[in-house]
Amino acid sequence: MKKLFYLLTVFSISLTLNAQDIARSPIGGQQPKSDPDKIISIETAKSSLVLKVSGRDGRLYHLYLGPRLSSTESFNQRGNENHLAYATFGTDNLFEPAIRVLHNDGNPSLELIYVSHETANAGNDATLTRILLRDPQYPFEVTLFCKAFTATDVFEQWAEIRHTEKKPVTIYNYASSMLHFDAERYWLTQFHGDWAEEMKARESELTAGIKILDSKLGSRAHMYQTPVFLLSLNEKAEENSGQVLAGTLGWSGNFRFLFEVDEKNSLRVISGINPFASEYSLQPGKVFKTPSMIFTFSNSGTGQASRNLHRWAINHGVLNGTGSRYTLLNNWEATGFNFDEKKLTSILDDTKKMGLDVFLLDDGWFANKYPRNHDRAGLGDWQENKAKLPGGLGYLVKEADARGVKFGIWIEPEMVNPRSELYENHPEWILKLPNRPEHYFRNQLVLDLTNPKVQEFVYNVVDGMLTANPGIAFIKWDCNRMMTNMYSTYLKDKQSHLYIDYVNSLYGVLERLRSKYPDLPIMLCSGGGGRVDYGALKYFTEFWASDNTDPLERIYMQWGYSYFFPAISVCNHVTSWGKQSLKYKTDVAMMGKMGFDIEVDKLTENELKFCQDAIANYNRIKDVIYKGDLYRLISPYKENRAALMYVNQEKTKAVLFSYTLNTRYGETINRVRLQGLDPDKTYNIREINVPNEGRFRGGSENGRSYTGDYLMNVGLNAGSSTPLTSVVYEITE
Ligand code: DGJ
Repeated sequence: MKKLFYLLTVFSISLTLNAQDIARSPIGGQQPKSDPDKIISIETAKSSLVLKVSGRDGRLYHLYLGPRLSSTESFNQRGNENHLAYATFGTDNLFEPAIRVLHNDGNPSLELIYVSHETANAGNDATLTRILLRDPQYPFEVTLFCKAFTATDVFEQWAEIRHTEKKPVTIYNYASSMLHFDAERYWLTQFHGDWAEEMKARESELTAGIKILDSKLGSRAHMYQTPVFLLSLNEKAEENSGQVLAGTLGWSGNFRFLFEVDEKNSLRVISGINPFASEYSLQPGKVFKTPSMIFTFSNSGTGQASRNLHRWAINHGVLNGTGSRYTLLNNWEATGFNFDEKKLTSILDDTKKMGLDVFLLDDGWFANKYPRNHDRAGLGDWQENKAKLPGGLGYLVKEADARGVKFGIWIEPEMVNPRSELYENHPEWILKLPNRPEHYFRNQLVLDLTNPKVQEFVYNVVDGMLTANPGIAFIKWDCNRMMTNMYSTYLKDKQSHLYIDYVNSLYGVLERLRSKYPDLPIMLCSGGGGRVDYGALKYFTEFWASDNTDPLERIYMQWGYSYFFPAISVCNHVTSWGKQSLKYKTDVAMMGKMGFDIEVDKLTENELKFCQDAIANYNRIKDVIYKGDLYRLISPYKENRAALMYVNQEKTKAVLFSYTLNTRYGETINRVRLQGLDPDKTYNIREINVPNEGRFRGGSENGRSYTGDYLMNVGLNAGSSTPLTSVVYEITE
């Protein structure tokens, strides 16, 4: 009788067993336990992330990420153990794992059972939850970390992997975070591009199977794909409605976001370092720490998601996010490599004349044996070029000081030209394959930063320069190529560590520099916007968004960056790119961290006056742009214009930017309804950046006053249908 019952049970189980049931079944057929379930709820002001330790099998399951729940009591029942919070490989999981390892006895499986967890106050309006998981058969453990920033509704997740097995364990997959969703439909917005065409947004529906956004560029996170995404549930992403997850990985190298829709239409999102060609041999007792996956869940569209990330970034993500920023005159577009001391001194005069804070001397100032007069030579030889700068950097710092402006300098310390003394003296410091020709990109090679001697060299390039010239007030740190020639002499038989160790070594150097120079503003640049991520932004005050400074292109690009990065971090320069008016260029650059890279001596008197006034305007309103809440009002992806505004926290000041794109003859430009204001306050409207010549005579709303209620429901005239025109309104209570 007993036997018959057993057979019937096995038969009925096997009939109903499907892939997910297998994933849910207890480890190795162990008998179900009867411990009570444990709910772990991690909360911010508006969101809940709910996990559960199953009393049945001891595993950790992901139950929910969404709008904050008043209680998690209803989860306290069996039957919702569908999604492993950090899925392993080798036992019963049939889907993409968060972690995959090979033990030193050849066993390729991992099982993770809950051991303990704790939630502690992490200061700064945050809590930190750690959950320890351990393999019952091997001394191998994973601690999952989740930092929840209460006010900004941002979560940061990462994992620490550790073991005490006798020999190293190879880890093949090591996600930072694994999230699950059960919605009807999923829409993914990715941001891709190339040099000079960064951050193009594209939304598509996820269907059954796997979609991967990744990069394999090594020394930079992006260029083709940016390490960011928007995931919207059920409907396409809208600015002010719908459920949206905005995510980004804080890692300056290869990343991977994997979206897998399974046979039950559940979605798992696995984010972290790209495991591509990067199996890692983990020594006993050492900790492998993944980078942070940073995400926010908004129940009211992408606008709120961006405001959450911006507020978080200002307070926690970007170095000195709560401070201010310098306006710059850069010389890259204006002079290229072609300058001398006299020319630079005249640019210092221009910096002063314009009313800008810093003159930033770009590429071309260094190297003597192989002078840096073009991009084919000199990189790596960081001594002032004697022909161009006979007085050295010290002379320029002094001249800047005499004019009451600051001096900044460009470097690219991770790279080398084959025509350089550095290449001649230290070929072993360079990534290149011993038995193959060198592959160049922009005529240069990447230094092997995994080598401590190279780390020391890079540190000394910066420290040496700052020690010799303490007056240097700004640095632009460039990185003009990705990694190829994948071989490190230093790493020997651990070549698969190269991608990961490179980035960690870079962070090590930056950490050291920042402990000595905590406040120095440094712009993160990477041959345009190739290295934009919160892993690096901990050490940088701002980033160069793209070498493409054509303002029309920039509207789209800056729009794209604005989903994830606050305006204070996005450097936009007015240059000679594009045929639009100086006003249009200035208005576009002003929506973020503004700078100029023009030949000031070629400006007419009127143009110079326009720039001076615009810079003075900018200095008056920049705090609202840097620290205000962003409202994207009209998307350039939807209409032939774009409008956005920033509102300060007190709702007493706002700035509206409105740009007409390539409109067609007869096309009407409608009013813009504002957002984020106080309906009961009355606001004055002042049009700024009005040229005193040409056809831009000021907007029709200049000098008027309206209630916030009116502005948000009726709106403003903000622009004309004339192509490539713009309006900026300063709005003050
Ligand atoms: C690439 C950067 O994006 C440019 O702004 C400029 O600094 C050049 N490098 C200099 O080589």
